[in-house]
Amino acid sequence: LKCTTRRILSAAKIRAVSTMANEEECPGNIKRQLAKIFEISLRETVPSESDEEPLVAACGGKFGDYQCNNAMGLFKKIKGKNTAFKSPNSVGQAIANNLPQSEMVESCSVAGPGFVNVVLSKAWLAKSIQKMLIDGIQTWAPKLSIKRAVVDFSSPNIAKEMHVGHLRSTIIGDSLARMLEFSNVEVLRRNHVGDWGTQFGMLIEFLFEEFPKWEDENDVPIQDLEKFYKQSKKRFDEDPAFKEKAQQAVVSLQGGEAKYRKAWTKICEVSRNEFQKVYQRLGVQLEEKGESFYNPYIPRVLEALDNKGLVEESEGARVIFVEGRNIPLIVVKRDGGYNYASTDLAALWYRLNEENAEWMIYVTDVGQHEHFEMVFDAGKRAGWLPSDDNTYPKATHVGFGLVLGDDGKRFRTRSSEVVRLVDLLDEAKNRGKAALIARGKEEVWTNEELEQTAEAVSYGAVKYADLKNNRLTNYTFNFDQMLNDRGNTAVYLLYAHARICSIIRKSGKDVEELKKVGEIALDHSDERALALHLLQFSEVVEEAGANLLPNVLCEYLYNLSECFTKFYTNCPVVGSSQETSRLLLCEATALVMRKCFHLLGITPVYKI
Ligand code: ARG
Repeated sequence: LKCTTRRILSAAKIRAVSTMANEEECPGNIKRQLAKIFEISLRETVPSESDEEPLVAACGGKFGDYQCNNAMGLFKKIKGKNTAFKSPNSVGQAIANNLPQSEMVESCSVAGPGFVNVVLSKAWLAKSIQKMLIDGIQTWAPKLSIKRAVVDFSSPNIAKEMHVGHLRSTIIGDSLARMLEFSNVEVLRRNHVGDWGTQFGMLIEFLFEEFPKWEDENDVPIQDLEKFYKQSKKRFDEDPAFKEKAQQAVVSLQGGEAKYRKAWTKICEVSRNEFQKVYQRLGVQLEEKGESFYNPYIPRVLEALDNKGLVEESEGARVIFVEGRNIPLIVVKRDGGYNYASTDLAALWYRLNEENAEWMIYVTDVGQHEHFEMVFDAGKRAGWLPSDDNTYPKATHVGFGLVLGDDGKRFRTRSSEVVRLVDLLDEAKNRGKAALIARGKEEVWTNEELEQTAEAVSYGAVKYADLKNNRLTNYTFNFDQMLNDRGNTAVYLLYAHARICSIIRKSGKDVEELKKVGEIALDHSDERALALHLLQFSEVVEEAGANLLPNVLCEYLYNLSECFTKFYTNCPVVGSSQETSRLLLCEATALVMRKCFHLLGITPVYKI
C-alpha cells in the first residue's frame, strides 16, 4: 500500500484536533465527510467500541483515494471477546460492508490487514468543485470552535537591530494569522516590541549628553538607531560615571519623569518608523502593544499569583516554581525590577482576561521555547489555562530555526555584520527586477507594472523560501535559489498561476457565465487527479492551521501546480470538445492557488 507515513501521521493529528472544527460546516473537507460515514459503519460493525474514532487518510495509491485504518486496532481491542471476527481483514470487510450509501463513494475494497480503501465518485468530485466555484472558496475554509486568537509575532526590540530572526517571525506569524482569519477567527496581531528594557537608560543618557538640544531639534541624528545604540553601549561599558547615570535614568524613566518619558517616546518613534517600512513592503499588518504596555499590569498580576501562593523567595529574587523544571521562573529580580518573564505573565493575563482570546500563539526562535513553556506552566498553575493542551484557552509557542548563509553559519553580510532587513529586501527586489528586464518586460510593461511585479515576485520569493521549510529546521538563505523560475519557488508558482490566467483570458470565454451553466466532466485520469487535489485544499489548510505549519500548505501548492502541468500537457483546453469543463478546472486551480498565495502572504501577479 502506497500510504505514506506522513499521511497516516497527519490523520492522527487531525483526529487530535477534531474537536476544534465543526464538522457539519466543512463541505469541502473530504476527510471529515468520509470520517462521518465511517463513524456510522464502525459503530455498526463493533458496537461495543462505540467511542472508536475513524482514522481516515488520503493515500493516493492504486487501491483508492482514501483509506480507513481502524480495522487492525479494533481487532486487537475485541480479540478474545468477539468471536465473529477471525482477523483484522474480516473486521475491515465488515466495515466496508456496513459503510452507508453515499454519493461520495464510488467503490470500497479491503486490502492488506484490514485497510478499507475508498475510491471517490467522479461525479461527486466534479459537483463539489462546481459548487465551490459558485459559492466561493470561503465555503472550503476550516471552521474552528474559537472566536478570537492572539498571534504575537515579529516583535523586534527598539534600538536594537531587527534581524533575520525577526523577519522569520514576521513571515511565519503573518501566515498563521492569515490561516486563522480564513477560518473565521478574529486575530489580534500583536507586535510585542521590546520597548522597556534597561537599554533605555543608556540611550536616553547618551541622547541628553550628545545632543543638549534634542528636544527642539527635529533632526537629532538618531535616525541610525543601531549606530546610536552601539555608541551609547560603548560609553556605558567604558565610563563608570556614565553607567551610573544611565542606571539612574532607567529609574527616572520607569518612575514616569516627564523629560525621560519624552526622550523614550522619541527613540521609540524613530524605531517604529523603521519597522513600519519593512512591514509595509511585506504587506504585513500588526498592532503594537509593546512590553511597556503591560508594565502597569505587572504588580497586580504578580499580586494575584502571590495570593495563590505561587510566588516564592529564592536567593533574593521572587520566583515561581514550575513542575518538572529545576530552574524557577524569575518574576522579580533581586534589585526589585521586573523582567521579560514578568511582562509575559502580565501579557498572558491581559490577553486572557481583557482581550478574551482563546488561543495565544507566540512566534519566536526556538531558543525561547523554554521561556514560554515556563510562562505557560505558571499560567496553568495559576488556573488561567487548563492543564490539558487540547482544550481552550490555550497558549502555544511556535518556534523556528536559524537562517543560515551559504557558509552554513548564521546569515551575515560579507563583513560579518547583521543583515539589515531593508537592505535584504532591496537586494531581492533589484534582482527580481533585473530578471524581468532580462525577459524583455521593460519594453512591454509600464514602469509601474514593472515595479509592482518585481516587488510581488521578489518579496513573495523571500517569504516562500522561508515558509516552505518546516519552521523548526534551519534554512539557508540563497537569493539565486529563491528567485529561480524553476523548481519549488514562489517565482515558479506565480508564473504558473499567471499562465493559467492567460489560458482563460485567451479563450475569450466569460468564466462567470461558464460557472453558472457549464459542467465539469472528469474523464481523463489527469483531470480526475487535478480535481481530487483541488478538493483536498480544505483538509490541508486545516492540517497546516491546526499544527501551525505553513510548509504543509506550500507543499500542497507546489503539488497542485505539478498536477496542473500534467493535466495541461495531456488535456488540450482551448478549442477542445471539453473546453468548458477544462476551463472551469483552470479557473478552480487559479482560485485555489490564489487562496494559497493569500494564506502565505504572497501577492499574485496576473501577467507574465
Ligand atoms: N522582543 C523579543 C525578541 O526580539 C521577542 C518577543 C516575543 N514575544 C513575547 N511576548 N515575548 O526576542
